[in-house]
Amino acid sequence: MARYTRIPGSLALITLTNPPVNALSIAVRQGIIDTMSRALSDPEVKGVVLCGENRKFCGGADIREFAGPMKGPHLVPTFDSIEAAEKPVVAAIEGVALGGGLELALACHYRIAHVKARLGLPEVTLGLLPAAGGTQRLPRLIGVPAALDLITTGRHVSAQEALKLGIVDRVTDGDAREVAAELARSVSAERPLALPRLSAQPTPRPPDLDALLEAAMAQVRRRARGALAPVACVQAVAAAANLPYGQGMRKESELMDTLFGSGQARALQYCFFSQRAVGKWSMPSGARWDNSAPRPVRKAAVIGLGTMGRGIVVAFARAGIPVVAVEMDAKQLEAGSQAVAGMLERDAARRGAESALGLVRYAADLRDLREVDLVVEAVFEDLALKRQVFGELSTACEPDTLLCSNTSSLDLDQLAAAVRRPELVVGMHFFAPAHVMKLLEVVCGPRSAPAAVATVMQLGKRLGKVSVAVGSCPGFVGNRMLMPYLRQASFLLEEGASPEQVDGALEEFGFPMGVFRMSDMSGLDVGWRVRKELGLTGPGVAPGEPARSRQGSRYCPLADLLCEQGRLGQKTGSGWYLYDGPGGQEARPDPWMRGFLEEYRSLHGLRARPIGQQEVLERCLYALTNEGFRVLEDGMAAGPEDVDVIYVVGYSWPAHTGGPMFHAAAVGLPAVLDRLEHYHRAHPDVPELQPSPLLRKLVAMGSPPIHKWREVIKGIHSQL
Ligand code: COA
Ligand code: ADP
Repeated sequence: MARYTRIPGSLALITLTNPPVNALSIAVRQGIIDTMSRALSDPEVKGVVLCGENRKFCGGADIREFAGPMKGPHLVPTFDSIEAAEKPVVAAIEGVALGGGLELALACHYRIAHVKARLGLPEVTLGLLPAAGGTQRLPRLIGVPAALDLITTGRHVSAQEALKLGIVDRVTDGDAREVAAELARSVSAERPLALPRLSAQPTPRPPDLDALLEAAMAQVRRRARGALAPVACVQAVAAAANLPYGQGMRKESELMDTLFGSGQARALQYCFFSQRAVGKWSMPSGARWDNSAPRPVRKAAVIGLGTMGRGIVVAFARAGIPVVAVEMDAKQLEAGSQAVAGMLERDAARRGAESALGLVRYAADLRDLREVDLVVEAVFEDLALKRQVFGELSTACEPDTLLCSNTSSLDLDQLAAAVRRPELVVGMHFFAPAHVMKLLEVVCGPRSAPAAVATVMQLGKRLGKVSVAVGSCPGFVGNRMLMPYLRQASFLLEEGASPEQVDGALEEFGFPMGVFRMSDMSGLDVGWRVRKELGLTGPGVAPGEPARSRQGSRYCPLADLLCEQGRLGQKTGSGWYLYDGPGGQEARPDPWMRGFLEEYRSLHGLRARPIGQQEVLERCLYALTNEGFRVLEDGMAAGPEDVDVIYVVGYSWPAHTGGPMFHAAAVGLPAVLDRLEHYHRAHPDVPELQPSPLLRKLVAMGSPPIHKWREVIKGIHSQL
């Protein structure tokens, strides 16, 4: 699908027409071939302008077609023939030129970008590489270092940055098609006609090329552990630097074949679609859901300017939503407003935009909330206080104002009970720092109205978050699944592992940081406080056997013991690891830990045994996944995709494995069940190792593919 129009100046305008992003589907590829050949064979046509419908140039290959075998015309010969054209072809880039879209533009002789356009080669984020010549043409155009950066990270660049890098020839704030047409006209009149063709140009070779490529390879291996695509991207750019174009293209194609067939590409494509689909199907079954339209949020308020409140205020202002920040403690108000101003200024500087500080107003009480459409409460995590604040909000605001809570652990329904209209209470579980972290758990209480939930889901997207609807249960979805994972990690220490061994295995799997380094970073006292509140930190030491919680199940007090000794993690200079003083960044194994663990084990009569990497991974990861099955069974998430999005976006689960549920499906559900049964037999007092009924049911049904799980779960719920 490409439209052919004759425009003044003896030009042809070719418009890709495949909404919403003019992805290069079979029909679009064929359309480009047909319209190009028409333009080139018409002697009246002197030049061509390529653009996209609805002012979006092209969002790249049609990802939906990746599921099946490649059909229709290939991109490489199509792009080669555009480049070989004897008439100037100019790309008019508006909106986006991503992936195949940018590769198409690189095959054109010139590129004009609208000032708001974004360009990039995001294939690496889908487990692939830009295989329609992108890895060979881009380094020829902008040099090896800049091309490596763009291709291995997949980051989008603005039109201005693209101009600076030399990707585009001109940026306009007018109509890019007109500027492109003007250029095509003037070039077509030149004699001789010397059209720039990237494939014919040499790649600039910096003197330190080998060292540069080596450093890039080391960096991608460090950044994305176990991910294949970034490594292949470096190899492809190396080919562009070292080989003639034709050979480089063969290398690009070989590398692409390997990636395309890998499980990682399938996992990453699943992530792409899951992130866009969550919230579109259904709500967690605990909540009512219909097709209620979201309500507009024109003005918001945030109550409490602690760490979370500050980040939330910044997120609102940056999204262009005026926000009232209420803090009753004068000192905190002062500190909070300064912190907000600083964050907004840094953010504006980074984006080259003006600070949104003008949108923030501060207040010391709730008097001024009449015009606010939605409030986010972020006061201390204390039920009585929060209930009181909700009661006050209920009278301070208009009756139909949405009242949201940033609680991470309290029962939403108890907060709802404190207001006049409980159906307008929804949870907004942000992750710290709230202006940076992409995940938003939208917590639906049993009484939350569908329109209220829909409003918050949409608001999350405006704030630049991935919103996932979850039911209201302790820990919601993310933290609930994290518990068994953390517990397994500490049981492994009791049984003979060391913190660095457990972390090493998890980092090898692809987490940027293992559990112990992570808890050192966030501070061991955070979990300690929660465990004390939950009454878990028990009588503790019962010599001769593993410790138990007050509730009687196995409980590991090691983290509590560290806290009692003032080892709170990075901020105190020691925790599970040793740091160069308080606030130190680099975690070093602490020789003291060995003796500490030995003493603890001997007190409990535990004998250390050798523990392999496989056991570490299976126990930590499958305990977490098993809880994911329970979450689904309980109707706390709408489907496995929701759980996976939460983990990949919010908990740095390696995206190239798709997420915990996708990973389990890829390993094979019978194998996961088998390992859980095995570990549960060995540790009958550890409930999280007991396979969930849903997992058993799926295995008994012959392990249906993951996109069918929602139906199975629906069936279970309808029988209840
Ligand atoms: N192929 C197929 N569908 C695509 C697509 C592609 N390359 N890019 C976007 N879409 C679809 C999305 O799935 C979504 O569909 P839905 O409305 O049915 O859910 C729709 O287009 C809109 O996308 P969305 O991401 O919600 O819109 P946005 O305006 O926030 O972002 C883009 C637009 C183009 C920036 C973003 O979609 C994107 O990054 N796309 C992928 C680009 C890419 O990786 N291309 C290389 C492919 S190898
Ligand atoms: P976080 O959970 O964001 O790290 P804190 O729990 O430290 O942050 O911050 C909560 C903030 O809420 C504190 O600054 C506190 O003064 C403020 N706060 C508590 N009660 C109210 C209230 N009723 N109105 C406004 N602010 C409040």
